[in-house]
Amino acid sequence: MKNIKAIIFDAYGTLFDVNSAAEKCKDKVGNKWEDFANYWRTTQLEYTWLRSLMNKHKDFWQVTKDSLNKSMKAFNIDPSMQNELLNLYKVLSPFKEVPEVLKTLKEKNFKLAILSNGTPTLLKELVKSNNLDNVFDDLFSIEQVGIYKPDSKVYDLPIQKYRIEKNEVAFLSANTWDVSGGGNYGYQSIWVNRNKNIFDNLDYKPRLEIKNLKDLLPNIESN
Ligand code: LAC
Repeated sequence: MKNIKAIIFDAYGTLFDVNSAAEKCKDKVGNKWEDFANYWRTTQLEYTWLRSLMNKHKDFWQVTKDSLNKSMKAFNIDPSMQNELLNLYKVLSPFKEVPEVLKTLKEKNFKLAILSNGTPTLLKELVKSNNLDNVFDDLFSIEQVGIYKPDSKVYDLPIQKYRIEKNEVAFLSANTWDVSGGGNYGYQSIWVNRNKNIFDNLDYKPRLEIKNLKDLLPNIESN
């Protein structure tokens, strides 16, 4: 990929492992911890889309709590676990190659940013707890426009700030619908397909598909 000025990352599921909260207390959650984590994640995303469609915005932290509450009931998890799971969600771990790849990209002088559903406070805490606070030029939050991805107002945030063309952005997400959202908006969208998933039929095919962030390095030229 040539003429890329900014590399923009989705946060949850792409840089940071959303299952790591449930995994860290799998002894208490039980052997269905992975199903529970997936149910929580799916419900959380559904709530973002539904709230955007209903025009009833609540921030991502509220949505994360609301979806956790339903998921804990669905999996009969002791309500006393709620705070522990929420606190772990604030400090999710990055996927293992992430810190090193971000460092390499920074040395190549790309503009690096996160563009996420997360609130500004959540995103700040997340990067700080993982010692990544000096890596990013910006942490763009949907709270700046008050509607969730994949609304185009969200994808417009970095374009407005950096005054660059849409196709000068390489946008990376592990979430297929987010790859389509960014791609349909005009970004060069890259799908981080860590788990051999199947892509969506939403009128966009990824510009590139990679297994993890390391695969990005040989595919992107610095200016
Ligand atoms: C985010 C969700 C979509 O970080 O993963 O925006």
